[in-house]
Parts: sequence; structure tokens; C-alpha cells
Amino acid sequence: MALRQIRYDGDDILRKKCKEVKAVTERTRTLIDDMFETMYDANGVGLAAPQVGILKRIVVIDVDYETPLVLINPVIVEKDGEQVGDEGCLSLPGKVATVARPEHVICKCLNEDMEEITIEGEGLLARAICHELDHLDGVLYKDIAEGPLRDVEYDEEDE
Ligand code: NI
Repeated sequence: MALRQIRYDGDDILRKKCKEVKAVTERTRTLIDDMFETMYDANGVGLAAPQVGILKRIVVIDVDYETPLVLINPVIVEKDGEQVGDEGCLSLPGKVATVARPEHVICKCLNEDMEEITIEGEGLLARAICHELDHLDGVLYKDIAEGPLRDVEYDEEDE
């Protein structure tokens, strides 16, 4: 496993549409392992392949650091409710903004073995799924945020 370079806002690759994954190769598995390592290293809860410069429809998410999820070719098939809250992104470090998302989503995708799976998310997981899927189509949360980006206020007790 290896850390990959995270691409930051302003990098054109974050604005491109990603291609569907046709097969999971050893290279794909290495990419997925590296994405998890890069995400955990940056204290993130989700990462999409374009954020490490790969234009493939692959997302990793772990909102509680106990439930690593791999989403390949993900599609949201159902959403309901609404949550309004702060959202950040590893490609826009140190910033947050208020974003409205569905409270509940159902997502169909493939896992690392190219098996069809369904992931149901509420709250933070629903938010993370929506955020990461947007990345696959070149959308950043700042595009849909309510109000301006704000600087993150770090709690010193967390340091
Ligand atoms: Ni992001």
C-alpha cells in the first residue's frame, strides 16, 4: 500500500467525468487499498478516485473507521428526507460549507469482486455517498453549497 497524492480544488482532473469500471484487476485492487490508506492518513471519511488522479468510478467510504466500504460504478436509486449541515472535502483542505443532502439514500454498486451490492445510508453515510458520487461527475460540494466556504475551526482538545 502507498499514499497517493491528493488533488486539490483548481486541478482540472476534479472536473472530469469518470469512466465505468469494466473489470477489477490487481491494479484496481492496489488503487482501492491506496485510496483507503490515503483517506485514513488525511482523516477523511470518503475519497473518490479522481481525487487521486484516476478517472474511474470508484469510491471508498468509512464514516466510523470501522466499516470500510468500496463502491464501484455506484448509482443512487432512492433518496428521501433532507439534512442540512457542514461538509468538507480532502480536495479543499481546511474549508467547510453548509450543504443540503438527502437524509437517506439507497445506492446500488459493485464490490471489489464485481458483485452487485446495495448500500443503504442514513445521516453522515448518506451525506458521504452523495458527496463522493458527485466527485465521479466532476462536481464539488462548493458548487451546491448554501453560502460561502468557511475556515474550519479546530477544537484544540482534538489536537
Ligand atoms: Ni470530496
